[in-house]
Amino acid sequence: MEQMRVGMIPSISEDEIQDIVSDLAKQIEMDYHGKSVVMLCPLKGSVFFFSDLIRKVNLPQEIDFVHVTSPKGEGCRILKDLAIDVQGKHVIIVEEIIDAGRTLSFLKSRINASHPASLKVCALLDKPARRELPISPDYVGRTIEDRFVIGYGMDSEEIGRNYKDIFNFAQ
Ligand code: IMP
Ligand code: MG
Repeated sequence: MEQMRVGMIPSISEDEIQDIVSDLAKQIEMDYHGKSVVMLCPLKGSVFFFSDLIRKVNLPQEIDFVHVTSPKGEGCRILKDLAIDVQGKHVIIVEEIIDAGRTLSFLKSRINASHPASLKVCALLDKPARRELPISPDYVGRTIEDRFVIGYGMDSEEIGRNYKDIFNFAQ
């Protein structure tokens, strides 16, 4: 575990994260055996989870990035849309954390409009207690309590994204 930072309680260490990601990769490999997939990274929080997961998934794959904002009290907005055509392809959204479910709900509608062969969601962390919309991930690394976390891509006002471990963050 790296140095302690003020207001942060270690939650999931770098090594634990890698074990969780390896397990998720194995499940995906089994389920999509013989198929190719499109791995989709919603920016920015998923960058590290995405880059670790795709390198552990031994399947033919294309990757793509989308950027959706969901400011509190406002609707979701696309800052960067898909660059590849996903029609007829097996798409997996690789999301670092699901909270209210607004971002994923919006993203799933957007992708379904492009008629993929299938669409699943792989989330590193899930906070079901916070859910406002009926979204449930197909693959979940770890279910956590209703606490704000930072590190491993996740931020509080852009702080913490580069931390190697995940911390509970006292706001
Ligand atoms: P949702 O649309 O409410 O599900 O929010 C999902 C997005 O909010 C995630 O992809 C994160 O970018 C961000 N988010 C939700 N909870 C946390 C957290 O505990 N720490 C950091 N970012 C979070
Ligand atoms: Mg995200």
